[in-house]
Amino acid sequence: MRILVIGSGGREHTLIWKLRQSPRVRALFCAPGNAGISRSARCAPIQPDDFAAMSDFVRKERIDLVIVGPEAPLAIGLADHLKGLGVSVLGPMRNAARLESSKVFAKDFMARHGIPTADYAVYQDSKKAFAFLDSSEARYPIVVKADGLAAGKGVVVARTAAEARTAVQRIMVDREFGSAGDRIVIEECLQGIEASYIVFTDGETILPAVAARDHKAVYDNDAGPNTGGMGAYSTDDILGPELEQGVVEKVIRPVIDGMREEGSPFQGILYAGLMLTSRGPLVLEFNVRMGDPECQVILPRLESDLSELCEALCQGRLKNHRAVWNRGAAVCVVLASGGYPGSYSGGKVISGLEMAEEDRGVAVFHAGTRQDGEKFVTDGGRVLGVTAVNQDLASAMMLAYEAVNKIHFEGMHYRRDIGAKGLKSPAHA
Ligand code: AMP
Ligand code: GLY
Repeated sequence: MRILVIGSGGREHTLIWKLRQSPRVRALFCAPGNAGISRSARCAPIQPDDFAAMSDFVRKERIDLVIVGPEAPLAIGLADHLKGLGVSVLGPMRNAARLESSKVFAKDFMARHGIPTADYAVYQDSKKAFAFLDSSEARYPIVVKADGLAAGKGVVVARTAAEARTAVQRIMVDREFGSAGDRIVIEECLQGIEASYIVFTDGETILPAVAARDHKAVYDNDAGPNTGGMGAYSTDDILGPELEQGVVEKVIRPVIDGMREEGSPFQGILYAGLMLTSRGPLVLEFNVRMGDPECQVILPRLESDLSELCEALCQGRLKNHRAVWNRGAAVCVVLASGGYPGSYSGGKVISGLEMAEEDRGVAVFHAGTRQDGEKFVTDGGRVLGVTAVNQDLASAMMLAYEAVNKIHFEGMHYRRDIGAKGLKSPAHA
């Protein structure tokens, strides 16, 4: 097979790393890729929204399968476009990608299909939103969400009416995220612990991946502002079998069936961001792709061939596919640039990469790196994802942090508690 992966982060490096292990994959490409990816795939400097250049490349390189990493190209119809050329694409069509690209669509869809989620209201008029926030009906904390894609920055958990008003002002009035702020969702703030539940689906069959947990806040113990994700871990008891069955029956199955019934069948990777509450698991959001950094802990636990899984998905025969997962644990610690998630500078030389990967079970996935002669230098906020797989969570954490200790660049910072939540108490206790 000849496969093209679209994207340039740690998630895409992990996809390439896993596909590289398959004897069935004859040629691997990535657009645009990054410095780490370029060691294992041919990188093409094509931006994901350049449909014309993408079509030319796919034809010229006789690509059999395109895997779309991030959400933005799916939201503007890249899968529709490439499928129109007769290429297999792992990723939903534009209409189905609305589950992520419009919070209003996702919430109304959940309401139509009885999928458990936070109570909410939609506003298109900022005056009405302000009036609601000042009324006695509003309960704080409360959550304000821009309708459209805002690179993960369009959700504000507001502790007070003043904070919520500021969020509405920035999203709807100042238009910080442009048309993503045409409408907003204001919803009930849920209490609990989060989990990422990700499945592969051909539109009929659901093939669950192992569950994972992201760590969004920049500092230990979930302190400080949110980031794109400072690390993740994956174990079998993030949900456990009973809770998992409930999520499949009450969330995933109704989404897949509901989207098909509404004329927007969903084919690809569906990610349910869940809050595990005393009322059971409730949906925080849907994503229409792998998580980042969840991908970095999920794929290393996949023992079977990813290209076979992708091919079966695209050909609508997931029903007959068996995926084999490692029953241990994986941990990914993100190493970030000094200052991230605020401003930071790039170009810092990274040392210790080869030594860090010497231990069995360790892989270092690149996100924001660039090659400078023989050296790798930093070129982004999240720089590397140091990942380890081992027989249990404690030993995977130890292995990951041993590898982290071998890597250095000026200003490097990371969380020291990735995985610690899983050691304390099972989430569903
Ligand atoms: P979303 O993009 O909708 O998942 O929101 C990003 C993050 O905001 C989530 O991962 C949660 O940490 C938080 N969040 C979103 N919605 C809620 C909610 N209803 N209650 C509490 N936290 C939330
Ligand atoms: N890790 C959260 C996301 O990928 O959206």
